[in-house]
Amino acid sequence: MIPTTPMTPMTPLPLSVVDAEEITTLDDSTAPTTPDGSSSFSPNLRPQDDSSYRSVNSLSTAPFGAAAAAPAVRNVCCVGAGFVGGPTAAVIALHNPHICVTVVDRDEKRIRRWNSKHPPIYEPGLNDILRIARDGSRGCVFNDGPTNHGGSDAIRCETVSPDDRGGRCEGQKRASINSVAARLPNLVFTTDVAKCVSEADVVLIAVNTPTKRRGNGAGSATDMAAFEAVTALVAQHASPGAIIVEKSTVPCRTAQLVQDTLALYRPGVHFEVLSNPEFLAAGTAINDLLHADRILIGSNNTASGNRAAAALASVYASWIPAARIITTNLFSSELAKLVANSMLAQRISSINSIAAVCDATGADVDEVARAVGADPRIGSKFLKAGIGFGGSCLKKDVLSLAYLAETLVLPEVARYWLAVVEMNEFARNRLVSRVLQCLNNTLAGKKVTVLGFAFKKDTNDTRESPALDIIRALEKEGPEEIAVYDPLCTPTQMAEEIGHFAGPGVLRSNGGPVAVYADAYAACQGSDAVLITTEFDEFKNRPVEADGGAGNLEELPPNQNSALDAEDHLSRLNPIPLCDKDCPECQREHLNASTVSYYGTGNDDEHARKARLDWTRIYYHMKRPHWVLDGRGVLDIATMEHVGFRVESVGRRSRLTKSSSPGNHKCW
Ligand code: UGA
Repeated sequence: MIPTTPMTPMTPLPLSVVDAEEITTLDDSTAPTTPDGSSSFSPNLRPQDDSSYRSVNSLSTAPFGAAAAAPAVRNVCCVGAGFVGGPTAAVIALHNPHICVTVVDRDEKRIRRWNSKHPPIYEPGLNDILRIARDGSRGCVFNDGPTNHGGSDAIRCETVSPDDRGGRCEGQKRASINSVAARLPNLVFTTDVAKCVSEADVVLIAVNTPTKRRGNGAGSATDMAAFEAVTALVAQHASPGAIIVEKSTVPCRTAQLVQDTLALYRPGVHFEVLSNPEFLAAGTAINDLLHADRILIGSNNTASGNRAAAALASVYASWIPAARIITTNLFSSELAKLVANSMLAQRISSINSIAAVCDATGADVDEVARAVGADPRIGSKFLKAGIGFGGSCLKKDVLSLAYLAETLVLPEVARYWLAVVEMNEFARNRLVSRVLQCLNNTLAGKKVTVLGFAFKKDTNDTRESPALDIIRALEKEGPEEIAVYDPLCTPTQMAEEIGHFAGPGVLRSNGGPVAVYADAYAACQGSDAVLITTEFDEFKNRPVEADGGAGNLEELPPNQNSALDAEDHLSRLNPIPLCDKDCPECQREHLNASTVSYYGTGNDDEHARKARLDWTRIYYHMKRPHWVLDGRGVLDIATMEHVGFRVESVGRRSRLTKSSSPGNHKCW
């Protein structure tokens, strides 16, 4: 079960002191009005006593300098249904049943998937939250303690309203009965951008801001095309006084651009702009959201700006302790996000540079990292040496910071950060060089297996994955076969992405060497060298460290806002939305399970956890001398060598392939 911190009962937030008439007087604007219906405010969730209720919108015209009272937020619209928008909106909705949360995206296919049993992204725990927030849940009662609510003592009830507590369960002692009220769906995915934006008190902009590919600043500046387009759309449709929030990672001073765009489309209408960057990481997104170490909110340092920040803070306050909510000025918040990712990348590049020194000296990079990380001023996280960082964020944000420095005529600063990216490329290239050295500088007639296609464990996200670069580099050496397996990426996905990245001609189905597998053993069968390119626990030959992440979710008794235990022991689930007969994802699942669209056995649940690999089994089906190149430091080398493998691991000592004398450590 995905736990949540029990929510304190919703108490109405302080309300505006400015009424609608006053707004008309104060805000004598000729700005275009919002589209029809936009004045309706949170229609789904309007409190029953309307007389006591005013929109956050009315606050925007309150005189500056007034005390920052948080206006009530009833409707949040998130524009962008991707890796940030989807999970963030889902967790906000889960913890704020009184808020209507809509996620809008113009991509119909993506929205259709969010509304189905096939969400477009996989994150541990996300599905459980969707089932509650998107589909609503039934009430239930159970008669046990916090830890065994899913046990056989659980009492299943079809529908239990909050007033029913205990009444249906005669014979049970009241004291032992816990009840969880039913809740209505409050998370909606739709393509109706204009309508949802116009109804929102708070609009989160969570669209892609990749690195610019062409023109001025190509390769380092941030491509703001999608962000700019969405800002213009929001500016046209937002209800007067709505709070506009930058969720996307953006260059420092973007808030000014947003403000200018709003002023351009809606002259005279007041909007507050906030920066609220996301710190969730792929694979642990739900855990990161549920247990955020900080929520950063940047605002204008004005009374109105502070009230807007307080309104957004109130949304998070449903589950995040107030002490973890950091407020700053707008530009500090924007910059802090870039700096956080850049410093994480810098740590990885630092340790990878040391891994090269270890290879050349006989030191062991894990031992160095442990010794260095024990200093609390340095810390132990993000010191795992390997083939470098991938993903859509770290590299992009370092490049964006370097570009910012360049534009500010700070070339020394730019060079400093660019070196972090250079070191990352060096780390990837070393693995390919090492494969060639191990295999006598030729791959002709040989099979190489790549284990791990995603950019990190517990995700099927492959953006900027080191594996892609490595596959492309290996392919240039003309091998007989490059076999690719990943525990979370489907063969279909891998084939599509490899074809897109390296050209369809490299795929085995088109006569090329790259074959995608659904089964690790089939991928390793007859291989000359197995490469580990993602740190999946499945590939380890030693116990998984209790290292947090998605598996670290503690168990708490359920409440109305908690997500489910996977088996729904308490029968809280409403029926899952049915797919259309011609649902492509259902068809794909069916195809994966029953046909040979790839090599190996069928995989009918693309995200099912796989068992640990049996390396002894792999050993017996590989070619001599059984090379394994561990690009992520997941293997215990001594155990592997005991089986008979020859192991190379970035910056780590091998008994067989390295001696302790410094001169013999030049290969990586
Ligand atoms: C990163 C940040 O960690 C998040 O805080 C941030 O919110 C996110 O970017 C974002 O801006 O959206 P993410 O890219 O999902 O998250 O993944 P990380 O856990 O940071 O890993 C990035 C890469 O570094 C992975 O390829 C991983 O394998 C590699 N890595 C990580 C190492 O090589 N060594 C380490 O010690 C840690």
